[in-house]
Amino acid sequence: MSRTLKVGVVGVGGIAKAHMPGWAASEFAEVVAGCDISMEALEKWGLLHGVSKLEQDPSGLFGDPDIDIIDVCTPNRYHAPIAIGALEAGKHVLCEKPLAPTPAEIHRMIEARDRSGRLLMTAQHFRFWGDSQAMKAEIATGVLGEIYHARSWMLRRANLPVRPGFIYRKHSGGGPTIDVGVHILDLTLWLMDNPRPVAVSGVAKAPLAQREGAFSAWRLDTVPQDMDVEDFAAAFVRFESGATLILETSWLLHHDTMGEDTQIWLYGSEGGCHWPSAKFLETNYETKQFYNRFLQRTQDRMEPHALECVAFAQAIAEGAPSPVPAEQSLQVQAILDGIYRSQAEGREVRIGD
Ligand SMILES: NC(=O)c1ccc[n+]([C@@H]2O[C@H](COP(=O)([O-])OP(=O)(O)OC[C@H]3O[C@@H](n4cnc5c(N)ncnc54)[C@H](O)[C@@H]3O)[C@@H](O)[C@H]2O)c1
Repeated sequence: MSRTLKVGVVGVGGIAKAHMPGWAASEFAEVVAGCDISMEALEKWGLLHGVSKLEQDPSGLFGDPDIDIIDVCTPNRYHAPIAIGALEAGKHVLCEKPLAPTPAEIHRMIEARDRSGRLLMTAQHFRFWGDSQAMKAEIATGVLGEIYHARSWMLRRANLPVRPGFIYRKHSGGGPTIDVGVHILDLTLWLMDNPRPVAVSGVAKAPLAQREGAFSAWRLDTVPQDMDVEDFAAAFVRFESGATLILETSWLLHHDTMGEDTQIWLYGSEGGCHWPSAKFLETNYETKQFYNRFLQRTQDRMEPHALECVAFAQAIAEGAPSPVPAEQSLQVQAILDGIYRSQAEGREVRIGD
């Protein structure tokens, strides 16, 4: 079958590299163009991937009738304007996480999507791990009963992405809350079947990044001292259903990991489960016994960043809905935005009123 969907990648930095194997593996799509404000980055990328249509302004891609998909891989603050421009030009849009830093921007993206009739998907790659998919399917059978509480965290001891797109609010919209918190929160809500959040009480601050000498202690001495985002956030979230969630996220923390500690616990009336181990814990109320079991694990055929691209192209080709709908990302962002509002106001804030 010929690969009929032509892809233009906007922002050819770190994460765009992780998308390329997915587009290459898709039977439906191929990358034909790239865009970046850095001509140097663009030329290097074009050479590496054999792509010759290279533009410094995304409108050059939007105006090309041969391009069907725009893959937005720029820093967060540019997601909404680029995605809206692409949708208005009739393109389908795959957009990196967070879909946008604020719920207001996501509302505008949804409106543009609805006017265009095209697909809009958030690149939440955690959903595409085989274990995540298997756990989602298992939970959907009802084994946990009513899920009434969740705990999730994504914590790094000393791993702060020292790039302007991450450490300055004007480019990123926030720190680890928006950068990594978005991953674990999206996955948690998805496993919980996306309950509607109504309130959040949170803190978002930079106790370590602002400590004198901390950067050099962690060999992060190239971090500019005017970094203006948080390095830690924690939140308590209430859902309309009565369920609750505790979320913690950080780039810098005296926590026992040199890499990343990323976990989810879900607690229900009939059972609980843990991600990423795919462990399920249940009670036989008649025999009064506890049971623990693991789902059978299989080797993923590709990295999840690649699988999400494959899934998006397939959804377009088959007329299926977006594999990660913007409405779900709106709920995620409402919570993350609520953490910042709660920090500023010093109290629990309502969401979605
Ligand atoms: N899913 C994941 O695991 C994951 C991992 C890293 C980054 N990301 C997301 O990907 C996005 C980019 O992060 P990155 O690590 O690739 O950053 P990066 O700094 O490596 O690359 C960003 C690229 O975008 C270009 N750029 C900046 N503004 C632009 C604009 N207005 N128009 C066109 N190009 C522009 C930059 O020149 C750079 O080449 C962010 O939204 C980030 O949250 C996701």
